[in-house]
Amino acid sequence: MLPEQQKFSQNLLNAENQHYLGQASLEASQLVLLQQLSSSLSPLQLAWSSGYLAAQSEQNSVNSIVPPAQKQVKAASTLTILYASQTGNAKGVATKLATAASDVGIAVNLKNVADYKVKGLKSESHLLIVTSTNGEGEAPDDALAFHEFLLSKKAPKLSGLSYSVLALGDSSYEFFCQTGKDFDERLKSLGAKQVATRLDCDVDYQQQASEWSANIVKTLKDELTVSVNLADVVTLPTSVMVAENQYDKENPFTAEFSLSQKITGRDSNKDVRHIEIDLAGSGLTYQVGDALGVYFENDTVLVAELITALGFSADEEVQLNDKKFTLAQVLTSELEITQTAANFVEFWAKQSADKSLLALVDDKKALREFSNSHQVIEVVALVAATVNAQQFVDALRKITPRLYSIASSQSEVEDEVHLTVALVEYQQGDKTRAGGASSFLGKRLEQGGKVKVFVEHNNNFRLPENTETPVIMIGPGTGVAPFRAFMQEREALNDDGAELGKSWLFFGDQTFTQDFLYQVEWQNYLKSGLLTKLDVAFSRDQAEKIYVQDRLQENAAEVYLWLEQGAHLYICGDANRMAKDVHQTLVNIVVEQGGKTSEQAETYLKTLRINKRYQKDVY
Ligand SMILES: Cc1cc2nc3c(=O)[nH]c(=O)nc-3n(C[C@H](O)[C@H](O)[C@H](O)COP(=O)(O)OP(=O)(O)OC[C@H]3O[C@@H](n4cnc5c(N)ncnc54)[C@H](O)[C@@H]3O)c2cc1C
Ligand SMILES: Cc1cc2nc3c(=O)[nH]c(=O)nc-3n(C[C@H](O)[C@H](O)[C@H](O)COP(=O)(O)O)c2cc1C
Repeated sequence: MLPEQQKFSQNLLNAENQHYLGQASLEASQLVLLQQLSSSLSPLQLAWSSGYLAAQSEQNSVNSIVPPAQKQVKAASTLTILYASQTGNAKGVATKLATAASDVGIAVNLKNVADYKVKGLKSESHLLIVTSTNGEGEAPDDALAFHEFLLSKKAPKLSGLSYSVLALGDSSYEFFCQTGKDFDERLKSLGAKQVATRLDCDVDYQQQASEWSANIVKTLKDELTVSVNLADVVTLPTSVMVAENQYDKENPFTAEFSLSQKITGRDSNKDVRHIEIDLAGSGLTYQVGDALGVYFENDTVLVAELITALGFSADEEVQLNDKKFTLAQVLTSELEITQTAANFVEFWAKQSADKSLLALVDDKKALREFSNSHQVIEVVALVAATVNAQQFVDALRKITPRLYSIASSQSEVEDEVHLTVALVEYQQGDKTRAGGASSFLGKRLEQGGKVKVFVEHNNNFRLPENTETPVIMIGPGTGVAPFRAFMQEREALNDDGAELGKSWLFFGDQTFTQDFLYQVEWQNYLKSGLLTKLDVAFSRDQAEKIYVQDRLQENAAEVYLWLEQGAHLYICGDANRMAKDVHQTLVNIVVEQGGKTSEQAETYLKTLRINKRYQKDVY
């Protein structure tokens, strides 16, 4: 028990004794103590305490002649809620679930699974897991060790455990909600009893998740609130107890847009923008390694094209969650029209009764590939379908904010936040199609325009605590963004007198002249010695293709030496090819240089990941 809780408990007992002596109100000294305690409590703890006091007063009125010391206080079981989150969604859902449970008087132990001692599993009675899936069906970084333990032979029998799982994922991935499925199936096979069916949520998860949470709290309430015990005070990780900034994904800050500057050359195949946004007045803070969540508005030209293609009118009234909008408004600000969900393709196939679309729907892999490579307008233009405006609106998903790795450190830019954004653009016939958020940031927003943002903290992409630890940063293309932030941060630390370890950047892109993002800054860091080594790979500057993984391989001995010296290794950028190829190269390096088998090399790298020495921010 925390010292405050001990004091609180003591004080409550005093208050109860006073009650038996016939006094209805607190003495001045007790009031001071109560005030001192309540000012130190989080909103969740305050809510729990008020429930506790109410429960105590009811019990006392019935058992008023029993001295408190002899009262039978039956300890209610604690509900443990574990979350495994890569970018914060699962953490958000778990925190709300914990609040809902504690609001009805359940004693809750909410924990990041990374901080959970697996030995405690066999003594749990009630466990809820909220987890996302990362990589290709992999557990989030924080859950790697727990996942490995639970799925191993070491996991204990859990016949005394009641559990359920809420899984977050994205149905455009092949292994949808895989980590949630893994936990659910394994807990079942270890003998645990499922108290509610697992919920698999897609990207638009909020409503389903809150309904599931409300139901499970209702289910567990009777079992877990028989009576309360002070020892069962809600325990929240410090990160949750600290009053969080008022702006978050649900309540974004409306920031001022300052700058979009093209940083690729005129002849580049890519349009990459350096973006600056002003956070002044928000109180928002971020650490290097965090991402910025950005809400966006769809292009009104695209909205008009879509409405025309559908034969609707822009002013037609439609509803979304009981709110009225014109069709043009809802398609501009509320609904995804650049990303196409597989469900929408299914809807369009049914409404059009088109044979080839219906056949596509029966082939899950082909359906996923098709939805990932066609925007809504492209599906609509493919075949005509019988729908009205409301049905069309109901078939679309709500806009989800996009994340961008932060490319600045507040020690350098203070109230600003910088991003490095590649515009998603491709040709469809004679039309140029663009990504929703990247074109909003890169092209449609003007200086002084408004953009809704929030900070997505990422504790799995952090500079080493010890500034003297060497770092290896692998960030081709926009993957270089967080490393610009790392360098700004290290420069500020250096200015404050910190000794810095070595740093090594691997950067790559298509050509040296057109695509060397932030070239001058890297060269200055090299010159000043802040950056120890820079290796670049420009794939199209010579006949054979050269990528960052080739540069790593060329430097195998030194890379391995740095790792053996304790270096932290970071990969940022493309998840589909680059991160996998770099990982394979690292395996090869550890095999060659460390004299290990491939399996041992995988274990070596997994240990680095669990120890947060190998971190990825890939997308
Ligand atoms: C943690 C994290 C960090 C990130 N950091 C960065 C970063 O620093 N910089 C950065 O630029 N991005 C970053 N991203 C990616 C970013 O979040 C967006 O996914 C990206 O900008 C695209 O979003 P969009 O809204 O522009 O495109 P969307 O509207 O999401 O997608 C456009 C749609 O167009 C279609 N499409 C796209 N290309 C083609 C094609 N060639 N052929 C046919 N159809 C196509 C697809 O249907 C696609 O869904 C990050 C992502 C994550 C998760
Ligand atoms: C790099 C990356 C890989 C992902 N891999 C999967 C996957 O294999 N299966 C899946 O269902 N979802 C996958 N997702 C989607 C996430 O699980 C989903 O966005 C979730 O809401 C994230 O929750 P979190 O913020 O708690 O990590 C992936 C997301 C990213 C960015």
